[in-house]
Amino acid sequence: MMQRRQFIRNSVLGTGVLLFSRPSLFAADSTSTDSRIEILPGEPLGTISPDIYGHFTENLGGVVYDGIWVGENSKVPNINGIRKELVDEMRKIKAPVCRFPGGCFADSYDWRDGIGPADKRPKRTNFWIGEEKDGPSPASHRYDPNQFGTNEFVHFCQLIGCEPYLAANLRSLSAEEFYRWVEYCNSPAGTTTLAETRAAAGYADPFRVRFWGVGNESWGCGGDFTAQEYAVEFRRFATWVPHYGQNLSLVASGPNDDNWEWTRGFLEEILRKGPNALRGIFGLALHYYAWNLSRGRTRNWNEGKGDAVNFDAVDWYELLRQGDVMESLINGHWQIMGEYDADHHVKLVVDEWGPWYRPGSEATPGDILEQMPTLRDAVFSGMTLDTFNRNPEKVAMANCAQLINCLNSLYLAHEDKFCVTPVGHVFGMYAAHQGGQSLRTIFSAPTVNYDRDGKPATFWGLAGSASLHDKELVLTVVNPHVSEARETEIGVRGTAIRNGAAVVLTNSDIHAHNTFEQRDVVTPQSKSVSGSGRSIVFSFAPASVTKLTLTLA
Ligand code: AHR
Repeated sequence: MMQRRQFIRNSVLGTGVLLFSRPSLFAADSTSTDSRIEILPGEPLGTISPDIYGHFTENLGGVVYDGIWVGENSKVPNINGIRKELVDEMRKIKAPVCRFPGGCFADSYDWRDGIGPADKRPKRTNFWIGEEKDGPSPASHRYDPNQFGTNEFVHFCQLIGCEPYLAANLRSLSAEEFYRWVEYCNSPAGTTTLAETRAAAGYADPFRVRFWGVGNESWGCGGDFTAQEYAVEFRRFATWVPHYGQNLSLVASGPNDDNWEWTRGFLEEILRKGPNALRGIFGLALHYYAWNLSRGRTRNWNEGKGDAVNFDAVDWYELLRQGDVMESLINGHWQIMGEYDADHHVKLVVDEWGPWYRPGSEATPGDILEQMPTLRDAVFSGMTLDTFNRNPEKVAMANCAQLINCLNSLYLAHEDKFCVTPVGHVFGMYAAHQGGQSLRTIFSAPTVNYDRDGKPATFWGLAGSASLHDKELVLTVVNPHVSEARETEIGVRGTAIRNGAAVVLTNSDIHAHNTFEQRDVVTPQSKSVSGSGRSIVFSFAPASVTKLTLTLA
Protein backbone atom coordinates (compact mmCIF):
# COMPACT_ATOMS: atom_id res chain seq x y z
CA MET A 1 0.00 0.00 0.00
CA MET A 2 1.09 3.50 -0.66
CA GLN A 3 2.34 5.57 2.23
CA ARG A 4 0.46 8.83 1.77
CA ARG A 5 2.98 10.81 3.77
CA GLN A 6 6.01 9.38 2.06
CA PHE A 7 7.13 11.90 -0.55
CA ILE A 8 9.12 10.88 -3.55
CA ARG A 9 10.61 14.08 -4.82
CA ASN A 10 11.25 13.78 -8.47
CA SER A 11 11.72 16.21 -11.27
CA VAL A 12 9.55 15.89 -14.36
CA LEU A 13 12.71 15.25 -16.34
CA GLY A 14 13.04 11.98 -14.53
CA THR A 15 16.49 12.84 -13.28
CA GLY A 16 15.89 11.37 -9.88
CA VAL A 17 15.66 13.02 -6.52
CA LEU A 18 15.45 16.79 -6.61
CA LEU A 19 14.88 18.80 -3.47
CA PHE A 20 13.14 22.15 -3.42
CA SER A 21 15.55 25.01 -3.09
CA ARG A 22 15.31 27.18 0.01
CA PRO A 23 13.66 29.42 0.97
CA SER A 24 10.70 27.27 0.04
CA LEU A 25 7.59 28.69 -1.52
CA PHE A 26 5.58 26.36 0.55
CA ALA A 27 4.35 26.44 4.09
CA ALA A 28 6.72 24.33 6.16
CA ASP A 29 5.39 20.86 6.97
CA SER A 30 1.97 21.56 5.55
CA THR A 31 -0.36 18.91 6.85
CA SER A 32 -3.31 19.57 4.57
CA THR A 33 -1.55 18.52 1.35
CA ASP A 34 0.41 15.46 0.30
CA SER A 35 1.87 16.79 -2.97
CA ARG A 36 3.56 19.85 -4.35
CA ILE A 37 4.14 21.48 -7.71
CA GLU A 38 6.68 24.24 -8.12
CA ILE A 39 6.88 26.13 -11.42
CA LEU A 40 10.14 27.88 -12.27
CA PRO A 41 9.67 30.90 -14.59
CA GLY A 42 13.42 31.48 -14.37
CA GLU A 43 14.10 28.15 -16.11
CA PRO A 44 12.52 28.30 -19.58
CA LEU A 45 12.91 25.18 -21.70
CA GLY A 46 11.96 26.66 -25.09
CA THR A 47 8.88 27.59 -27.08
CA ILE A 48 6.26 24.88 -27.48
CA SER A 49 5.74 24.40 -31.19
CA PRO A 50 2.02 24.11 -32.04
CA ASP A 51 3.10 21.30 -34.37
CA ILE A 52 3.56 18.87 -31.50
CA TYR A 53 -0.25 18.86 -31.38
CA GLY A 54 -0.36 17.36 -34.87
CA HIS A 55 -2.49 14.62 -36.41
CA PHE A 56 -2.17 11.65 -38.70
CA THR A 57 -4.73 10.49 -41.29
CA GLU A 58 -3.85 7.37 -43.23
CA ASN A 59 -5.93 5.81 -45.98
CA LEU A 60 -6.72 2.93 -43.65
CA GLY A 61 -9.99 1.35 -42.50
CA GLY A 62 -12.51 4.09 -41.68
CA VAL A 63 -10.07 6.99 -41.29
CA VAL A 64 -10.53 8.60 -44.70
CA TYR A 65 -13.68 7.02 -46.14
CA ASP A 66 -16.51 7.44 -43.62
CA GLY A 67 -14.22 9.35 -41.21
CA ILE A 68 -13.11 12.42 -43.16
CA TRP A 69 -14.70 11.89 -46.55
CA VAL A 70 -18.44 11.36 -46.86
CA GLY A 71 -18.82 12.64 -50.42
CA GLU A 72 -20.60 15.70 -51.74
CA ASN A 73 -23.92 13.91 -52.17
CA SER A 74 -24.00 12.52 -48.67
CA LYS A 75 -26.83 13.31 -46.27
CA VAL A 76 -24.09 13.86 -43.69
CA PRO A 77 -23.42 17.61 -43.43
CA ASN A 78 -20.28 18.20 -45.47
CA ILE A 79 -18.13 20.83 -47.10
CA ASN A 80 -17.30 19.67 -50.62
CA GLY A 81 -17.50 16.05 -49.44
CA ILE A 82 -15.56 16.57 -46.20
CA ARG A 83 -17.38 15.82 -42.92
CA LYS A 84 -18.32 19.24 -41.54
CA GLU A 85 -18.52 18.26 -37.88
CA LEU A 86 -14.93 17.02 -38.03
CA VAL A 87 -13.73 20.29 -39.51
CA ASP A 88 -15.59 22.24 -36.82
CA GLU A 89 -14.05 20.16 -34.04
CA MET A 90 -10.53 20.41 -35.44
CA ARG A 91 -10.81 24.16 -35.62
CA LYS A 92 -11.73 24.23 -31.95
CA ILE A 93 -8.58 22.36 -30.94
CA LYS A 94 -6.38 24.53 -33.20
CA ALA A 95 -5.11 21.51 -35.13
CA PRO A 96 -1.77 22.72 -36.51
CA VAL A 97 -0.63 20.02 -38.94
CA CYS A 98 -1.94 16.78 -40.43
CA ARG A 99 -0.03 13.89 -42.03
CA PHE A 100 -1.33 11.93 -45.04
CA PRO A 101 -1.66 9.41 -46.77
CA GLY A 102 0.25 7.07 -44.41
CA GLY A 103 1.79 5.21 -42.67
CA CYS A 104 2.56 2.03 -44.51
CA PHE A 105 0.02 2.99 -47.17
CA ALA A 106 2.24 5.90 -48.24
CA ASP A 107 4.88 3.60 -49.72
CA SER A 108 2.32 1.97 -52.01
CA TYR A 109 0.49 5.14 -52.99
CA ASP A 110 0.68 6.68 -56.41
CA TRP A 111 -0.27 10.32 -55.87
CA ARG A 112 -1.43 10.52 -59.51
CA ASP A 113 -4.29 8.14 -58.65
CA GLY A 114 -5.79 10.83 -56.45
CA ILE A 115 -5.83 13.85 -58.79
CA GLY A 116 -7.92 14.85 -61.80
CA PRO A 117 -11.67 14.43 -62.29
CA ALA A 118 -13.16 12.24 -59.58
CA ASP A 119 -14.98 9.94 -62.03
CA LYS A 120 -11.76 9.23 -63.94
CA ARG A 121 -9.72 8.20 -60.92
CA PRO A 122 -8.70 4.55 -60.75
CA LYS A 123 -10.31 2.19 -58.30
CA ARG A 124 -7.62 0.14 -56.57
CA THR A 125 -7.38 -2.86 -54.32
CA ASN A 126 -7.62 -1.77 -50.72
CA PHE A 127 -4.02 -1.76 -49.48
CA TRP A 128 -4.95 -2.80 -45.94
CA ILE A 129 -7.44 -5.51 -46.83
CA GLY A 130 -5.46 -6.92 -49.71
CA GLU A 131 -8.17 -8.86 -51.51
CA GLU A 132 -11.54 -7.96 -52.90
CA LYS A 133 -13.47 -10.49 -50.90
CA ASP A 134 -16.43 -10.25 -48.60
CA GLY A 135 -15.26 -9.76 -45.10
CA PRO A 136 -16.08 -7.96 -41.91
CA SER A 137 -15.14 -4.58 -43.36
CA PRO A 138 -17.94 -2.29 -44.52
CA ALA A 139 -18.48 -2.54 -48.27
CA SER A 140 -17.30 1.06 -48.65
CA HIS A 141 -13.83 -0.03 -47.55
CA ARG A 142 -13.45 -2.96 -49.89
CA TYR A 143 -11.83 -1.05 -52.72
CA ASP A 144 -9.91 2.19 -52.71
CA PRO A 145 -11.96 4.65 -54.81
CA ASN A 146 -9.32 7.42 -54.73
CA GLN A 147 -11.98 10.09 -54.25
CA PHE A 148 -9.91 11.63 -51.47
CA GLY A 149 -6.54 12.58 -52.93
CA THR A 150 -4.10 15.47 -52.73
CA ASN A 151 -6.63 18.20 -53.61
CA GLU A 152 -9.20 16.98 -51.12
CA PHE A 153 -6.62 16.50 -48.37
CA VAL A 154 -5.13 19.96 -48.82
CA HIS A 155 -8.64 21.42 -48.97
CA PHE A 156 -9.44 19.62 -45.69
CA CYS A 157 -6.33 21.21 -44.14
CA GLN A 158 -7.23 24.62 -45.51
CA LEU A 159 -10.72 24.39 -44.00
CA ILE A 160 -9.20 23.64 -40.61
CA GLY A 161 -6.34 26.09 -40.93
CA CYS A 162 -3.65 23.47 -40.49
CA GLU A 163 -0.56 22.62 -42.53
CA PRO A 164 -0.51 19.55 -44.74
CA TYR A 165 2.31 17.05 -44.17
CA LEU A 166 2.62 14.66 -47.11
CA ALA A 167 4.43 11.33 -46.89
CA ALA A 168 6.11 10.41 -50.16
CA ASN A 169 6.44 6.91 -51.55
CA LEU A 170 10.09 5.87 -51.41
CA ARG A 171 9.62 2.12 -51.64
CA SER A 172 7.68 1.77 -54.87
CA LEU A 173 7.91 5.07 -56.77
CA SER A 174 10.92 6.87 -58.14
CA ALA A 175 12.56 10.05 -56.86
CA GLU A 176 11.28 11.68 -60.02
CA GLU A 177 7.68 11.01 -58.95
CA PHE A 178 8.45 12.64 -55.62
CA TYR A 179 9.68 15.75 -57.43
CA ARG A 180 6.55 15.74 -59.59
CA TRP A 181 4.31 15.57 -56.55
CA VAL A 182 6.16 18.55 -55.06
CA GLU A 183 5.74 20.28 -58.41
CA TYR A 184 2.01 19.51 -58.51
CA CYS A 185 1.57 20.96 -55.02
CA ASN A 186 3.91 23.91 -55.07
CA SER A 187 4.60 25.20 -58.56
CA PRO A 188 3.09 28.68 -58.94
CA ALA A 189 -0.08 29.27 -60.95
CA GLY A 190 0.46 29.40 -64.68
CA THR A 191 3.95 27.93 -64.66
CA THR A 192 4.26 24.16 -65.15
CA THR A 193 1.91 21.67 -66.76
CA LEU A 194 1.23 20.21 -63.34
CA ALA A 195 0.29 23.68 -62.04
CA GLU A 196 -2.24 23.78 -64.87
CA THR A 197 -3.55 20.34 -63.93
CA ARG A 198 -3.99 21.58 -60.38
CA ALA A 199 -5.71 24.75 -61.61
CA ALA A 200 -8.09 22.66 -63.74
CA ALA A 201 -9.24 20.99 -60.52
CA GLY A 202 -10.05 24.41 -59.07
CA TYR A 203 -6.79 25.07 -57.24
CA ALA A 204 -4.89 27.73 -59.17
CA ASP A 205 -2.91 28.86 -56.14
CA PRO A 206 -0.08 26.58 -55.10
CA PHE A 207 -0.67 24.46 -52.02
CA ARG A 208 2.69 25.51 -50.58
CA VAL A 209 3.25 22.20 -48.84
CA ARG A 210 6.21 22.57 -46.52
CA PHE A 211 6.38 19.22 -44.69
CA TRP A 212 7.35 16.13 -46.69
CA GLY A 213 8.08 12.71 -45.30
CA VAL A 214 10.58 10.78 -47.40
CA GLY A 215 9.24 7.26 -46.94
CA ASN A 216 7.67 5.75 -43.83
CA GLU A 217 9.02 3.08 -41.49
CA SER A 218 11.70 2.31 -44.05
CA TRP A 219 13.06 -0.32 -41.65
CA GLY A 220 9.82 -2.28 -42.19
CA CYS A 221 6.81 -1.80 -44.48
CA GLY A 222 8.56 1.09 -46.22
CA GLY A 223 11.14 -1.11 -47.94
CA ASP A 224 12.75 -3.27 -45.27
CA PHE A 225 15.99 -1.33 -45.66
CA THR A 226 18.95 -1.28 -43.35
CA ALA A 227 19.62 2.16 -41.89
CA GLN A 228 22.58 2.51 -44.25
CA GLU A 229 20.59 1.49 -47.33
CA TYR A 230 17.82 3.90 -46.40
CA ALA A 231 20.27 6.77 -45.86
CA VAL A 232 21.53 6.30 -49.42
CA GLU A 233 17.94 6.33 -50.71
CA PHE A 234 17.09 9.36 -48.61
CA ARG A 235 20.08 11.30 -50.00
CA ARG A 236 19.04 10.42 -53.53
CA PHE A 237 15.43 11.52 -52.96
CA ALA A 238 16.37 14.65 -51.02
CA THR A 239 19.04 15.97 -53.36
CA TRP A 240 17.93 18.78 -55.64
CA VAL A 241 14.23 18.57 -54.82
CA PRO A 242 12.51 21.42 -56.67
CA HIS A 243 11.45 24.11 -54.20
CA TYR A 244 9.22 26.48 -56.17
CA GLY A 245 9.98 29.21 -53.65
CA GLN A 246 8.74 27.14 -50.73
CA ASN A 247 11.16 26.10 -48.01
CA LEU A 248 10.78 22.37 -47.68
CA SER A 249 11.09 20.56 -44.36
CA LEU A 250 12.04 17.00 -45.22
CA VAL A 251 11.42 14.32 -42.61
CA ALA A 252 13.51 11.16 -42.77
CA SER A 253 12.12 7.82 -41.67
CA GLY A 254 13.48 7.34 -38.18
CA PRO A 255 13.69 4.64 -35.54
CA ASN A 256 11.05 2.33 -34.21
CA ASP A 257 10.98 2.94 -30.44
CA ASP A 258 14.40 2.09 -28.95
CA ASN A 259 16.16 1.09 -32.16
CA TRP A 260 19.23 3.19 -31.37
CA GLU A 261 21.13 1.44 -34.16
CA TRP A 262 18.80 2.88 -36.77
CA THR A 263 19.50 6.44 -35.60
CA ARG A 264 23.25 5.81 -35.51
CA GLY A 265 23.38 3.91 -38.78
CA PHE A 266 21.30 6.49 -40.65
CA LEU A 267 23.29 9.51 -39.47
CA GLU A 268 26.63 7.77 -39.93
CA GLU A 269 25.80 6.93 -43.52
CA ILE A 270 24.32 10.37 -44.27
CA LEU A 271 27.52 11.99 -42.98
CA ARG A 272 29.75 9.91 -45.25
CA LYS A 273 29.11 12.71 -47.75
CA GLY A 274 30.19 15.36 -45.28
CA PRO A 275 28.41 17.58 -42.74
CA ASN A 276 26.41 19.47 -45.36
CA ALA A 277 24.37 16.35 -45.96
CA LEU A 278 22.56 17.08 -42.70
CA ARG A 279 21.35 20.43 -43.99
CA GLY A 280 18.66 18.81 -46.09
CA ILE A 281 17.02 17.09 -43.13
CA PHE A 282 14.44 18.85 -40.99
CA GLY A 283 13.52 15.93 -38.79
CA LEU A 284 14.01 12.29 -37.98
CA ALA A 285 10.69 10.49 -37.47
CA LEU A 286 10.40 8.41 -34.31
CA HIS A 287 7.47 5.99 -34.04
CA TYR A 288 6.39 4.66 -30.69
CA TYR A 289 3.27 2.68 -29.84
CA ALA A 290 2.43 1.38 -26.35
CA TRP A 291 1.08 -2.10 -26.98
CA ASN A 292 2.57 -4.72 -24.68
CA LEU A 293 0.26 -5.32 -21.72
CA SER A 294 1.50 -8.86 -21.08
CA ARG A 295 3.36 -7.76 -17.92
CA GLY A 296 6.59 -9.17 -19.24
CA ARG A 297 5.20 -12.53 -20.39
CA THR A 298 5.79 -12.06 -24.11
CA ARG A 299 7.19 -9.73 -26.73
CA ASN A 300 4.93 -11.17 -29.39
CA TRP A 301 3.12 -8.34 -31.22
CA ASN A 302 -0.23 -10.15 -31.35
CA GLU A 303 -0.15 -12.00 -28.07
CA GLY A 304 1.13 -9.08 -26.02
CA LYS A 305 -1.70 -6.66 -26.73
CA GLY A 306 -4.45 -5.91 -24.21
CA ASP A 307 -8.09 -4.95 -24.51
CA ALA A 308 -9.08 -1.33 -25.10
CA VAL A 309 -12.09 -1.32 -22.79
CA ASN A 310 -11.95 -4.38 -20.54
CA PHE A 311 -8.97 -3.93 -18.27
CA ASP A 312 -8.08 -3.87 -14.60
CA ALA A 313 -6.16 -1.31 -12.56
CA VAL A 314 -2.87 -3.12 -13.23
CA ASP A 315 -3.45 -2.85 -17.01
CA TRP A 316 -4.16 0.84 -16.48
CA TYR A 317 -0.79 1.42 -14.81
CA GLU A 318 1.03 -0.88 -17.22
CA LEU A 319 -0.18 1.13 -20.20
CA LEU A 320 0.86 4.38 -18.55
CA ARG A 321 4.26 2.92 -17.75
CA GLN A 322 4.66 2.01 -21.41
CA GLY A 323 3.68 5.52 -22.42
CA ASP A 324 6.13 7.01 -19.96
CA VAL A 325 8.94 5.40 -21.98
CA MET A 326 8.44 8.18 -24.54
CA GLU A 327 10.63 10.56 -22.54
CA SER A 328 13.57 8.18 -22.44
CA LEU A 329 13.19 7.50 -26.18
CA ILE A 330 13.29 11.22 -26.92
CA ASN A 331 16.33 11.71 -24.70
CA GLY A 332 18.10 8.58 -25.95
CA HIS A 333 17.72 9.34 -29.65
CA TRP A 334 18.49 13.01 -29.04
CA GLN A 335 21.75 12.11 -27.36
CA ILE A 336 22.79 9.91 -30.26
CA MET A 337 21.76 12.59 -32.76
CA GLY A 338 23.98 15.04 -30.89
CA GLU A 339 27.00 12.77 -31.39
CA TYR A 340 26.66 13.29 -35.15
CA ASP A 341 25.03 16.71 -35.24
CA ALA A 342 26.41 18.78 -32.37
CA ASP A 343 24.27 21.83 -33.21
CA HIS A 344 21.15 19.68 -33.35
CA HIS A 345 20.13 20.96 -36.74
CA VAL A 346 17.97 17.83 -37.13
CA LYS A 347 15.00 17.60 -34.75
CA LEU A 348 12.82 14.71 -33.68
CA VAL A 349 9.42 14.33 -35.35
CA VAL A 350 7.29 11.80 -33.44
CA ASP A 351 4.89 11.31 -36.31
CA GLU A 352 3.17 8.21 -34.92
CA TRP A 353 2.34 7.69 -31.25
CA GLY A 354 -0.42 6.22 -29.11
CA PRO A 355 -1.67 3.02 -27.48
CA TRP A 356 -2.41 0.03 -29.69
CA TYR A 357 -4.85 -2.65 -28.45
CA ARG A 358 -6.04 -5.94 -29.90
CA PRO A 359 -9.10 -5.83 -32.19
CA GLY A 360 -12.59 -6.09 -30.74
CA SER A 361 -13.65 -2.65 -29.48
CA GLU A 362 -14.45 -0.99 -32.81
CA ALA A 363 -17.33 1.48 -32.80
CA THR A 364 -17.99 0.38 -36.37
CA PRO A 365 -17.43 -3.39 -36.73
CA GLY A 366 -15.01 -4.11 -39.55
CA ASP A 367 -13.09 -0.81 -39.33
CA ILE A 368 -9.59 -2.23 -39.16
CA LEU A 369 -7.26 -0.86 -36.48
CA GLU A 370 -10.15 1.02 -34.90
CA GLN A 371 -10.33 0.92 -31.11
CA MET A 372 -12.43 2.57 -28.43
CA PRO A 373 -10.54 5.31 -26.56
CA THR A 374 -11.36 5.40 -22.84
CA LEU A 375 -10.38 7.60 -19.93
CA ARG A 376 -7.15 5.56 -19.77
CA ASP A 377 -6.20 6.79 -23.25
CA ALA A 378 -7.02 10.36 -22.26
CA VAL A 379 -4.64 10.10 -19.31
CA PHE A 380 -2.05 8.45 -21.58
CA SER A 381 -2.43 11.25 -24.14
CA GLY A 382 -2.21 14.02 -21.55
CA MET A 383 0.94 12.43 -20.18
CA THR A 384 2.46 12.14 -23.68
CA LEU A 385 1.63 15.72 -24.65
CA ASP A 386 3.19 16.85 -21.37
CA THR A 387 6.31 14.93 -22.33
CA PHE A 388 6.49 16.77 -25.65
CA ASN A 389 5.87 20.10 -23.88
CA ARG A 390 8.83 19.39 -21.61
CA ASN A 391 11.11 18.78 -24.58
CA PRO A 392 10.34 21.71 -26.88
CA GLU A 393 13.82 22.01 -28.31
CA LYS A 394 14.03 18.34 -29.24
CA VAL A 395 10.56 17.57 -30.59
CA ALA A 396 9.63 19.76 -33.56
CA MET A 397 6.43 17.93 -34.47
CA ALA A 398 4.31 15.03 -33.25
CA ASN A 399 1.30 13.34 -34.82
CA CYS A 400 -1.15 11.27 -32.83
CA ALA A 401 -1.99 7.95 -34.52
CA GLN A 402 -4.62 8.38 -35.81
CA LEU A 403 -7.19 11.19 -36.00
CA ILE A 404 -10.47 9.37 -36.51
CA ASN A 405 -11.81 5.79 -36.51
CA CYS A 406 -8.42 4.29 -35.78
CA LEU A 407 -5.97 3.77 -32.89
CA ASN A 408 -5.74 6.67 -30.43
CA SER A 409 -8.50 8.60 -32.16
CA LEU A 410 -9.80 12.01 -31.20
CA TYR A 411 -13.06 11.31 -33.02
CA LEU A 412 -15.28 8.40 -34.00
CA ALA A 413 -17.69 8.62 -36.91
CA HIS A 414 -19.90 6.34 -38.94
CA GLU A 415 -22.34 7.67 -41.51
CA ASP A 416 -24.26 10.44 -39.68
CA LYS A 417 -22.99 9.45 -36.22
CA PHE A 418 -20.09 11.28 -34.61
CA CYS A 419 -18.51 11.73 -31.21
CA VAL A 420 -15.47 13.32 -29.60
CA THR A 421 -13.47 10.77 -27.62
CA PRO A 422 -11.78 11.47 -24.26
CA VAL A 423 -8.53 11.80 -26.26
CA GLY A 424 -10.12 14.55 -28.37
CA HIS A 425 -11.05 16.41 -25.22
CA VAL A 426 -7.44 16.27 -24.00
CA PHE A 427 -6.29 17.90 -27.24
CA GLY A 428 -8.92 20.59 -26.67
CA MET A 429 -7.63 21.28 -23.17
CA TYR A 430 -3.94 21.22 -24.13
CA ALA A 431 -4.31 23.56 -27.13
CA ALA A 432 -3.72 26.36 -24.62
CA HIS A 433 -0.04 25.35 -24.42
CA GLN A 434 0.61 26.03 -28.11
CA GLY A 435 3.23 28.72 -28.65
CA GLY A 436 3.89 29.16 -24.93
CA GLN A 437 7.23 29.18 -23.18
CA SER A 438 7.74 25.80 -21.56
CA LEU A 439 8.91 26.12 -17.94
CA ARG A 440 10.71 23.59 -15.83
CA THR A 441 8.32 22.36 -13.17
CA ILE A 442 9.00 20.18 -10.17
CA PHE A 443 6.38 17.67 -9.09
CA SER A 444 6.51 15.80 -5.83
CA ALA A 445 3.80 13.35 -4.88
CA PRO A 446 3.45 9.95 -3.24
CA THR A 447 4.44 7.19 -5.62
CA VAL A 448 1.75 4.82 -6.88
CA ASN A 449 2.49 1.25 -5.76
CA TYR A 450 0.75 -1.73 -7.30
CA ASP A 451 1.06 -5.47 -7.52
CA ARG A 452 2.35 -6.69 -10.89
CA ASP A 453 1.55 -10.39 -10.77
CA GLY A 454 3.02 -10.89 -7.32
CA LYS A 455 5.87 -8.42 -7.75
CA PRO A 456 5.77 -4.83 -6.47
CA ALA A 457 5.68 -2.13 -9.15
CA THR A 458 5.62 1.64 -8.95
CA PHE A 459 4.63 4.64 -11.02
CA TRP A 460 5.03 8.34 -10.43
CA GLY A 461 2.33 10.13 -8.45
CA LEU A 462 1.82 13.34 -10.43
CA ALA A 463 3.39 14.75 -13.59
CA GLY A 464 2.64 17.42 -16.14
CA SER A 465 3.95 20.52 -17.87
CA ALA A 466 3.69 24.30 -17.64
CA SER A 467 3.84 27.06 -20.21
CA LEU A 468 3.87 30.82 -19.88
CA HIS A 469 1.89 33.18 -22.10
CA ASP A 470 2.63 36.72 -20.87
CA LYS A 471 1.04 36.81 -17.42
CA GLU A 472 -0.97 33.66 -17.93
CA LEU A 473 0.41 30.32 -16.93
CA VAL A 474 -1.03 27.05 -18.25
CA LEU A 475 -0.34 24.02 -16.07
CA THR A 476 -1.51 20.57 -17.12
CA VAL A 477 -1.34 17.72 -14.65
CA VAL A 478 -2.02 14.01 -14.78
CA ASN A 479 -3.01 12.09 -11.66
CA PRO A 480 -2.56 8.43 -12.63
CA HIS A 481 -3.86 6.96 -9.36
CA VAL A 482 -7.06 5.02 -10.05
CA SER A 483 -8.67 5.86 -6.71
CA GLU A 484 -6.79 8.55 -4.76
CA ALA A 485 -7.00 12.30 -5.19
CA ARG A 486 -3.81 14.31 -4.71
CA GLU A 487 -4.19 17.35 -2.47
CA THR A 488 -1.51 19.62 -3.90
CA GLU A 489 0.11 22.90 -3.01
CA ILE A 490 1.10 24.82 -6.17
CA GLY A 491 3.49 27.73 -6.34
CA VAL A 492 5.28 29.80 -8.97
CA ARG A 493 8.77 30.73 -7.88
CA GLY A 494 9.39 34.48 -7.70
CA THR A 495 5.80 35.60 -8.21
CA ALA A 496 2.32 35.34 -6.79
CA ILE A 497 -0.81 33.80 -8.23
CA ARG A 498 -3.67 36.28 -8.59
CA ASN A 499 -6.40 33.82 -9.53
CA GLY A 500 -6.98 30.59 -11.37
CA ALA A 501 -9.44 28.44 -13.26
CA ALA A 502 -9.48 24.68 -13.72
CA VAL A 503 -10.79 22.25 -16.31
CA VAL A 504 -10.85 18.57 -15.29
CA LEU A 505 -11.35 15.45 -17.37
CA THR A 506 -12.19 12.40 -15.30
CA ASN A 507 -14.87 9.87 -14.41
CA SER A 508 -15.57 7.59 -11.48
CA ASP A 509 -15.20 4.64 -13.88
CA ILE A 510 -11.70 4.24 -15.35
CA HIS A 511 -13.22 2.46 -18.37
CA ALA A 512 -15.51 5.37 -19.20
CA HIS A 513 -15.74 6.33 -22.87
CA ASN A 514 -17.99 8.22 -25.26
CA THR A 515 -20.11 6.47 -27.87
CA PHE A 516 -22.42 7.52 -30.68
CA GLU A 517 -25.36 6.95 -28.33
CA GLN A 518 -23.77 8.49 -25.22
CA ARG A 519 -21.49 11.21 -26.47
CA ASP A 520 -20.86 13.04 -23.20
CA VAL A 521 -19.84 10.43 -20.66
CA VAL A 522 -16.30 11.84 -20.44
CA THR A 523 -16.20 15.59 -21.01
CA PRO A 524 -14.10 18.39 -19.50
CA GLN A 525 -15.67 20.04 -16.44
CA SER A 526 -14.88 23.52 -15.15
CA LYS A 527 -13.90 23.67 -11.47
CA SER A 528 -13.25 26.64 -9.29
CA VAL A 529 -9.79 27.37 -7.95
CA SER A 530 -9.73 29.10 -4.62
CA GLY A 531 -6.93 31.05 -3.07
CA SER A 532 -4.24 33.38 -4.32
CA GLY A 533 -0.81 34.53 -3.23
CA ARG A 534 2.48 32.64 -2.98
CA SER A 535 0.78 29.29 -3.33
CA ILE A 536 -2.64 27.77 -3.83
CA VAL A 537 -4.06 24.35 -3.05
CA PHE A 538 -5.84 22.18 -5.59
CA SER A 539 -7.10 18.63 -5.35
CA PHE A 540 -6.30 16.54 -8.44
CA ALA A 541 -9.04 13.95 -8.87
CA PRO A 542 -8.11 10.27 -9.23
CA ALA A 543 -7.53 9.11 -12.82
CA SER A 544 -7.65 12.61 -14.21
CA VAL A 545 -6.18 15.15 -16.57
CA THR A 546 -6.41 18.75 -15.34
CA LYS A 547 -5.66 22.09 -16.92
CA LEU A 548 -5.08 25.01 -14.58
CA THR A 549 -4.94 28.50 -16.00
CA LEU A 550 -3.26 30.79 -13.50
CA THR A 551 -3.01 34.54 -13.77
CA LEU A 552 0.28 35.74 -12.30
CA ALA A 553 0.92 38.98 -10.45
O1 AHR B 1 -0.77 3.63 -37.69
C1 AHR B 1 -0.87 2.35 -38.24
C2 AHR B 1 0.43 1.87 -38.84
O2 AHR B 1 1.39 1.78 -37.83
C3 AHR B 1 1.08 2.76 -39.85
O3 AHR B 1 0.59 2.56 -41.13
C4 AHR B 1 2.52 2.37 -39.79
O4 AHR B 1 3.38 3.42 -40.15
C5 AHR B 1 2.69 1.91 -38.37
O5 AHR B 1 3.34 0.70 -38.30
